[in-house]
Amino acid sequence: MISMTGVVRQNYWGLTNMAKIKSKWVCQKCGYEAPGYLGKCPECSSWGSFVEEAEVVSKVQPQHENKTFFENDIQKINDISLDETFRFSTGMEEFDRVLGGGLVEGSLVLLAGDPGIGKSTLVLQACAYLSSNGTDVLYVSAEESTRQLKSRAKRLNINAEKLSVLSQTNAEEIKNAIVQTKAKVVVIDSIQAIYSPNITSSAGSVSQVREACNSFMEIAKTTGTTIIVIGHVTKDGTIAGPRVLEHMVDAVLQFEGDKYKLFRMLRAVKNRFGSTNEVGIFNMKDNGLEEVQNPSELFLEGLQNNMASGSVVIVTNEGTRPLLVELQALTGFTSYPAPRRVATGIEYNRVLQIIAVLERRVGLNLSKQDVYVSVVGGMEINEPAADLGIALAIATCLRNVTIEPSTVIMGEIGLSGEIRPINQLDARIREAAKMGFKKAIVPKSSMSSKAPTGIEIIEVSKLTEAITKAIG
Ligand SMILES: Nc1ncnc2c1ncn2[C@@H]1O[C@H](COP(=O)(O)OP(=O)(O)O)[C@@H](O)[C@H]1O
Ligand SMILES: [Mg+2]
Ligand SMILES: [Zn+2]
Repeated sequence: MISMTGVVRQNYWGLTNMAKIKSKWVCQKCGYEAPGYLGKCPECSSWGSFVEEAEVVSKVQPQHENKTFFENDIQKINDISLDETFRFSTGMEEFDRVLGGGLVEGSLVLLAGDPGIGKSTLVLQACAYLSSNGTDVLYVSAEESTRQLKSRAKRLNINAEKLSVLSQTNAEEIKNAIVQTKAKVVVIDSIQAIYSPNITSSAGSVSQVREACNSFMEIAKTTGTTIIVIGHVTKDGTIAGPRVLEHMVDAVLQFEGDKYKLFRMLRAVKNRFGSTNEVGIFNMKDNGLEEVQNPSELFLEGLQNNMASGSVVIVTNEGTRPLLVELQALTGFTSYPAPRRVATGIEYNRVLQIIAVLERRVGLNLSKQDVYVSVVGGMEINEPAADLGIALAIATCLRNVTIEPSTVIMGEIGLSGEIRPINQLDARIREAAKMGFKKAIVPKSSMSSKAPTGIEIIEVSKLTEAITKAIG
């Protein structure tokens, strides 16, 4: 290989142009590599997840001279213009918000989710919008035939002039097509069906998925193309899941939802260009995904008039938007030597801590009680502002009383049973008032403006006080 300077390039071993065959055992769950077979993965503790992957390292290593994007001259930070991160809309407010305000030019986004959840549908709808706005879009269908894609487009009423479709699984061919068509946005559906001829292991294996993702990343960075890569989350270890790609891409969006219910949630697991707290909510309809404008309504469906004991409504604030969600707790005399504690949609350790505080600071006896806590509607809540709601759900169920109807509850609980302030309280209360709630039990003096009319604010500073006031 002759480099630009005319010197014969050698690799580290002093060899030129030698193909090297490597064989290694790779955990198909997490990508951990070992020189030989291992029964249990030291990284992710999976059993039987190792598969041998023979790999022919390509003869010609990429030379740094080829890379132009990363080798720009050294610049003063003040001279760098911000136009470089140019964003554009997907036409769906919910999608845009989760992306941090739209797609970023030259970025690679991984969209992960269970098979059948609606990934292809979501992306195709975004493609349709982009193309109607004059953007050249290339949809690479590696899984479905172009006819299948067309029939989905027909069902979704999509008529997109600037949308091209390519049925291809070879990563090199796809790279050529991207360069040739000069598409501004490219979709790869899905990464698990792509293979790179440089590598001998089968499509869908960790090595293949990584190699393909790497080469698309390079294309995105050198040409400024925005690439959306779709990946299936797999439960068995045979096909590499999107987790092995997380560290190399710019953003990872997770599309999830209850298969039996119709709404779907889109959340950012990683985002180099925005917050990871945003949640986008969609409704799966016959003619595609519909954005849900008022998600609180969805999570509270059929609630207001029949509050059972152990049921509370909290206001979470994941991201920039407050959301009303119902929490439920169930307690009952245990038939196990150690009582069971089950948390669905809430962090398990948080529930254990709240139970400990309820026992020690309020005097509830939960040592012989099984405790189940769950978030209604499949939401996941990761903020301490839900503490007080969880505590009240458990306490009211244990005492078999109900919380006053039309009451929302929020606050963080400290270990001594004190109620701590939470962020964005005003916005949360406004959302509750908008949804018709009449009372809010909140931490003392954390409001910064006047409460909206129609909702009574009850400030509490101790857990015992909150329980008394909530049961009313
Ligand atoms: N012919 C159809 N009529 C109505 N809904 C359909 C039809 N085909 C698929 N769907 C809906 O679309 C979903 C599959 O969406 P898709 O985007 O293909 O998922 P993914 O790409 O995540 O595997 C199905 O779960 C179903 O709800
Ligand atoms: Mg699909
Ligand atoms: Zn592993």
